[in-house]
Amino acid sequence: MCGIIGFTGASQAAPVLLSGLKRLEYRGYDSAGIAVQCEGEIRMLKATGKVDTLIERYGQDRQMNGVCGIGHTRWATHGAPSDINAHPHMSMDGLFAIVHNGIIENYAQIRKELIDEGVKFLSETDTEVIVQLLMKYYDGNFQNTVLKTLSRLEGSYAVGIMCRDFPGVLYAAREASPLIIGLGAGENFFASDITALVSHTKNVIDLDDGEVAEIRSDSISIFDHAGRPVEKTERHITWDVAAAEKNGYEHFMLKEIMEQPNALKATIDPRVRDGRIVLDDLDLDMSCYDRIMITACGSAYHAGCVGRSVIETLCRIPVETELASELRYRDFVMDEKNLVIVVSQSGETADTIAALRECRSRGATVLAIVNVVGSSIAKLADHVIYTWAGPEIAVATTKGYTTQVAVLTMFAIWAADRLGRIEPEEYSEMVSALMKIPERAQRTLDLNARVRKLAKKYHDRKSLFFIGRNLDYSSCLEGSLKLKEISYIHSEAYAAGELKHGTIALIEPGRLVVALCCCERLFDKTVSNIQQVKARGAKVLAVALESNRRIFSEADDVLLVPSTHRLLVPIVEIIPLQLFAYFVAGFNGCDIDKPKNLAKSVTVE
Ligand code: F6R
Repeated sequence: MCGIIGFTGASQAAPVLLSGLKRLEYRGYDSAGIAVQCEGEIRMLKATGKVDTLIERYGQDRQMNGVCGIGHTRWATHGAPSDINAHPHMSMDGLFAIVHNGIIENYAQIRKELIDEGVKFLSETDTEVIVQLLMKYYDGNFQNTVLKTLSRLEGSYAVGIMCRDFPGVLYAAREASPLIIGLGAGENFFASDITALVSHTKNVIDLDDGEVAEIRSDSISIFDHAGRPVEKTERHITWDVAAAEKNGYEHFMLKEIMEQPNALKATIDPRVRDGRIVLDDLDLDMSCYDRIMITACGSAYHAGCVGRSVIETLCRIPVETELASELRYRDFVMDEKNLVIVVSQSGETADTIAALRECRSRGATVLAIVNVVGSSIAKLADHVIYTWAGPEIAVATTKGYTTQVAVLTMFAIWAADRLGRIEPEEYSEMVSALMKIPERAQRTLDLNARVRKLAKKYHDRKSLFFIGRNLDYSSCLEGSLKLKEISYIHSEAYAAGELKHGTIALIEPGRLVVALCCCERLFDKTVSNIQQVKARGAKVLAVALESNRRIFSEADDVLLVPSTHRLLVPIVEIIPLQLFAYFVAGFNGCDIDKPKNLAKSVTVE
């Protein structure tokens, strides 16, 4: 998704903007650009493709001396990726420049109105209507012009605006698209997220929907659309630059896979006191709910599928899962007796936000499980439990996912206890297994070299299957998505028992089937499925618990993961699948951290 940044201070703006754009690359983009106030005019530099191309152009040009500027990485929505469509966009008279993340829904109507008035548009973007409106409404007062322009817009936006007549002044505004203000010493910033700013400042203000900020090097004023001042509190970020950098790993994805033991520890440990799960501030009366709905997108949805089994098993409440992109458009039945759990790493996924709003409008209580503090979903929900995974930069989620599963499991134990539906022995057994999960994850990572070898053996497959039952099946969904998204190899996750209802027709000699057999209760059933595919010539790579040696006589290759409580198995069994996807993508020469067509934070529909 698009990323925006703005800077005003005493040092040269262009290098600050370019390094911020480098850090925003992880969000996914196809072109980039900057604009700087230089010697009484606004100068722009844009490039299709990577930020590195933009940096190269800046190196050749260097005509951008100035201490105030804005920058953008664009993920095309209206108009193809091109230098012209790349942001910033400038008004026809060169007075205003703008960067924008989001979608202006009424842009076609405004564009027609402006064209009828003689405005000439250069790009195909929805964004350009904003900057031409600024020109239309300009009355010498920057603030009035911004407010009048914003009042015409429908849709979502995080915008950063500069005016040639106001050196050193930036305006930023937010409506349903993430935006933060960074506070420095004699310099201030805005950005889509803190990763762009963390090398400059750790003090931020989260802008809320409907708020506008005037940013100067020595002051910040925030107000609403009526121009009334809004009081905001500052937030201090605790993680540092190293957390957002690769620390010697070749890719962020591998770094984040390896960080899972620590991320799980940070998420679990502070919530266990004297053998009890303590979810501070979670003031929920579980007896009020007769149904739970878990909704999310992509991997977060797969975490929800694990959560469904664990919560239902422990709490004995019916739990449903539904993709947020489907739920939001369905005429579904829900009332105040429903608890909705919304799962999101970024907290900014547009479909998840829309589903959350639909559920709330029907009276449901919303509990969000989110990684990014202060994100939109965290703000919109009634209750929040954070996954303390730290910043996740690689597009493919890994530590985000396992910490989501950990939080859903902790919630299940906590809720079952509140409902009086978990025996003290099972409670203690689960809490003690949970406390050992970081160590189990660490031991699972020892499979690294072995998984690499298997990835080398199988990386040239064109299509493969992941099979498993119950919790194993949820992990298959996630393992298959990981492989698809970063290696571009077709794969399908199949509930093992469903094979005989159609898919087995696709099993042919040499087809790779990854069989997850960690669900001990169903081990023999999955082994029958392994035998069925092997009888048709498939190669089987099995993932099983280390306690289960019988698997060796059934599969061609085996990965053994440490044993744990049966409901915690998904946290360990996904790790070899993450590594498998990572190494296969590597052997196939793929851009692992930034897979094609994908964005880290899907803030548009
Ligand atoms: C896959 C992946 C995506 C996200 C999905 C939801 O590796 O990262 O499928 O899980 O886009 O994103 P969040 O969790 O930010 O709502």
